Amino acid sequence: MSEAIARAHPNVALSKYWGKLPSPGNVPAVPSLSITLEGLSTVTRVRFDASRADDRVVIGGRDADAAARARVVALLDRVRLASGESRRAEVVSRNDFPTASGLASSASGFAALALAAVRAAGLDWDASRVSDLARRSSASAARSVFAGYVELPAGAPGASEASLLPARALAGVDHMPLVVLVAVATDEAKAVGSSEGMRETLERSPYAAAWLDEAPRLHARLREALAARDFRLVGELAESSALAMHASAIAAGIVYWTGATIETLATVRKLRRDHGFGAYASIDAGPHVKVLTRPADAAGVRAALEAASGVRRVIEARPGHGARLVTVEDAP
Ligand code: PMV
Repeated sequence: MSEAIARAHPNVALSKYWGKLPSPGNVPAVPSLSITLEGLSTVTRVRFDASRADDRVVIGGRDADAAARARVVALLDRVRLASGESRRAEVVSRNDFPTASGLASSASGFAALALAAVRAAGLDWDASRVSDLARRSSASAARSVFAGYVELPAGAPGASEASLLPARALAGVDHMPLVVLVAVATDEAKAVGSSEGMRETLERSPYAAAWLDEAPRLHARLREALAARDFRLVGELAESSALAMHASAIAAGIVYWTGATIETLATVRKLRRDHGFGAYASIDAGPHVKVLTRPADAAGVRAALEAASGVRRVIEARPGHGARLVTVEDAP
């Protein structure tokens, strides 16, 4: 038997990835920039075992459904092809936060899986190769392989499926002190996955072209604001990116927001306007609002979010580590 265990964190994109190139290989059409978040994590164990007749995938203590299992098996197949490993595997994964509800479980999940599978198969790949592998399953997962502030470039139209497209670290965890408060709106899985939401947006939204045009500009400005450690501008641009992404999706009928999302967004804007807090909202493919704030403002912002209608609880996260191997004590 050969096994490895890896831990990875989700990330929140400040400039959002939303939309794939038409070519195969899960290639993003726009660049994105994220913060890897300590405070939420996935631990995944991969064991190749000659006695297994088939791959087994257990997520959160239960056998994964057919769709989730197929995505995991596709990654294992890539690793088997690259390494010559022919045995089937058992994959056991656990999140300490709700799975598939828009809290980026696919990012931490595929980052941890990619690292554990590569090492269990004996491949000596560096973080870039692991990131490229994770990207093929979930583009946001490519970013969770790295610590701190991370960029995933857009793919080049027409590039071959074999071309590597990894994320890259832009700045370390201490580059700009901030806190991300996740206002959890539900513990249920979302109805429309991000791949389907993106596809519908590009196919049907009257604003798809506007989004594809605007996203790289927002991204370039965000990179500059981050390099200048301009918290306020980073926050403003991150909120703009999230709202532009959702506006394009909503126009295609893809609505991830619930009442709690609107209430939380209104709370964040009131905190800025009436109380002078530096607080900025980001929203992914789910109803939760992720609020960027400075450490000094975190307690006040947290209290206001906890009081917002529909918010179940608030999770506090900070810039954190990339995917890493862990010991057997962490095994799920
Ligand atoms: O990587 P996926 O397929 O889980 O899509 C991620 C999409 C967003 O979370 C909404 C945006 C992003 O850049 O993380």
